[in-house]
Amino acid sequence: MNPPVLQTRPPDLRRLVDHLQRRSTDQVPEQLAVDPSIYRDPEFAAAERERVFGRVPVIACHTTELPEFGSFITMRLPNNEAVIVRQEDGSVRAMVNSCRHRGSMVETAERGTCPRRLQCPYHGWSYNLDGSLRSATHEVSFGEFDHIATGLVQLPVEERHGYVWVVDNPQATLDLDAWLGPEMNAILGSYGIEKYVCAHKGSFDEPANWKVMQDAFLDGYHIQFVHRETAAKMTYTNILTLDDYGRHTRFMSPRKKLGKLLEDLPEGSELSEEQIRRYINISHGLLPNATMLFLPDHIQLLSFYPGADPGHCRMEIRLIVPSLEDSGWDEQRWQETWDRNWQINMDILRDEDFPIARNTQRAVSSTGAGPLLIGRNEVANYVFHREIRRLVDGENA
Ligand code: FES
Ligand SMILES: [Fe+2]
Repeated sequence: MNPPVLQTRPPDLRRLVDHLQRRSTDQVPEQLAVDPSIYRDPEFAAAERERVFGRVPVIACHTTELPEFGSFITMRLPNNEAVIVRQEDGSVRAMVNSCRHRGSMVETAERGTCPRRLQCPYHGWSYNLDGSLRSATHEVSFGEFDHIATGLVQLPVEERHGYVWVVDNPQATLDLDAWLGPEMNAILGSYGIEKYVCAHKGSFDEPANWKVMQDAFLDGYHIQFVHRETAAKMTYTNILTLDDYGRHTRFMSPRKKLGKLLEDLPEGSELSEEQIRRYINISHGLLPNATMLFLPDHIQLLSFYPGADPGHCRMEIRLIVPSLEDSGWDEQRWQETWDRNWQINMDILRDEDFPIARNTQRAVSSTGAGPLLIGRNEVANYVFHREIRRLVDGENA
């Protein structure tokens, strides 16, 4: 049995087929000059932490990474160490993972389940799972203080479309409707991502600026060079449609099988939308730091976080797939399929894209590196750079 085909109705499938037949691509109205200092300048990195990550939501994890009451993950956001915990009523809370006594990291495991409380390993203060202070060790000798005001600091958080969204700043507000906009909100809502499960997750600390890495995964222009023996055998280079929703984008590319299908099509007949949908990649540039690839049978979520200095980042890769029950497969087939798929991802992303990004970082760190140019065909990169620049410049609209 084939994996379930996701029900999407992208409005521009015909445009993609036209591009494929003419070997053309969507273009943005202009090229974009990029100053290479944005990949290496500590001041620009500080502005990003404050005005990008300190203001707008990022996807912290998939819903199924917090499956039950007490499930938690910890993560290093650009401004804060965070711990995200599933609550008894099913909601989630995100908190700064720093004890209010003398600041120790409260939860040190990457993930797990703590059924009753979070306990600081330093002097044993404990917190309820909502972050409120539960007890302070030897309080008689410690002296009295305001327990209510001494809970873990809360971060804005919301769960929607199968993801947990967090703003990396306790003072910020989170307005997902405004941030996603009606189009991307509807698109994500239509996919039923909450019914999927996160089958694999990997974290990679890389010596490259987070935008160098993000750029590589918004780019349909490099495939035939960097992925000659892998992805290029399946996907066309430089054929994309772009939907620019302001902050976010959706961009689609055809797979080689679609080209073959078109070649074999009897004259005068057309492919149905259903046929086209099976053989395209639908990607989403989710500002500020994620690319979500929506394939016919699963989802790949790539997230990029600035590191401690502009020359380093962390990338998280998630393979989000139909649950065992929804797949209709037996457990062994399900596991083997997604293990194999994960390995293919490692072969392409880690072994082919990462080395290019590392070398790009070394090269753009040259003080003599000249101005860079994003072409009219690099549609998703264009919107990404345009929007990061607008956020850094403090434009709210
Ligand atoms: S730092 Fe947490 S109990 Fe002392
Ligand atoms: Fe690539």
